[in-house]
Amino acid sequence: MSRLINKVAVITGGNSGIGLGIAEAFKNNGAVGAIVGRNQETLNSAVAQLGADFIAINADVTDLADLERVFKETSEKFGKIDVIVANAGGGAVGTVATLGEADYDKTMDLNLKSVYFTVNKALPYMNDGGSIILIGSNAAHRAYPNFTLYGAAKAAVIFLAKGFSSDLLSRKIRVNVITPGTTDTPAFEKFVPAEQLEGLKKHFAGEMPIGRIGQPSDIGKTAVFLASDDSSFMLGAELLVDGGMTYLSK
Ligand SMILES: NC(=O)c1ccc[n+]([C@@H]2O[C@H](COP(=O)([O-])OP(=O)(O)OC[C@H]3O[C@@H](n4cnc5c(N)ncnc54)[C@H](OP(=O)(O)O)[C@@H]3O)[C@@H](O)[C@H]2O)c1
Repeated sequence: MSRLINKVAVITGGNSGIGLGIAEAFKNNGAVGAIVGRNQETLNSAVAQLGADFIAINADVTDLADLERVFKETSEKFGKIDVIVANAGGGAVGTVATLGEADYDKTMDLNLKSVYFTVNKALPYMNDGGSIILIGSNAAHRAYPNFTLYGAAKAAVIFLAKGFSSDLLSRKIRVNVITPGTTDTPAFEKFVPAEQLEGLKKHFAGEMPIGRIGQPSDIGKTAVFLASDDSSFMLGAELLVDGGMTYLSK
């Protein structure tokens, strides 16, 4: 379990859910680096869990000056960066009849603009031959009620893996995207009251072809593969890690 020895990584949203699962898997494979988020409390607890080889940087991924600071601070501490995971995301829930301009801007800023500028700002601080991993969503492939804007932003993120890979050929930086299905993270807490959480997760598990929802560690293992030389022939690719929910009927 040492596929990322000597690799320096930055994981946005590494203080919660899928991002923390990726950071843990990276740490267990020998990587060092930084996690990024805005909640100082969860940044502190996550970095305590990850140990001395990780730092926490309080920054907003929709703010370009913050992004610049993230990559500058990380490279000053660890040297040039090998792996970027653009994971921070989430969305306003509602339909085309209910979500207005402010929701549109917020959703696109967090899920699309932030991914573009995370990569744009990281590039000067990255080693050639590095790996960039984007986090999509199966909502990009199937229309779920209330997830239209979010799904549209994530569909664009899936394209960015191809476009970025093409743009970065001369630097041999590979960009791939992981598309998670329903995964057990604190994001659920934003949608339902605490007493309904377990019921909701059980409901989702029942809907999944594989019979369970995903865990952050499922995404973490896939991210280790994409960050490592084991995936050296892959670029512009999408890996569905979704328990079959996108394309299989149950
Ligand atoms: N859970 C699922 O079922 C699922 C399925 C498909 C795709 N995804 C995608 O997976 C990614 C992670 O989601 P999750 O389920 O792990 O959710 P989560 O537990 O709510 O984590 C979201 C992370 O993003 C960070 N974040 C949000 N806005 C930010 C901002 N403006 N600047 C910096 N950091 C920000 C949060 O940190 P702070 O709060 O500290 O800012 C947090 O660490 C997202 O891109 C999501 O769309 C999730």
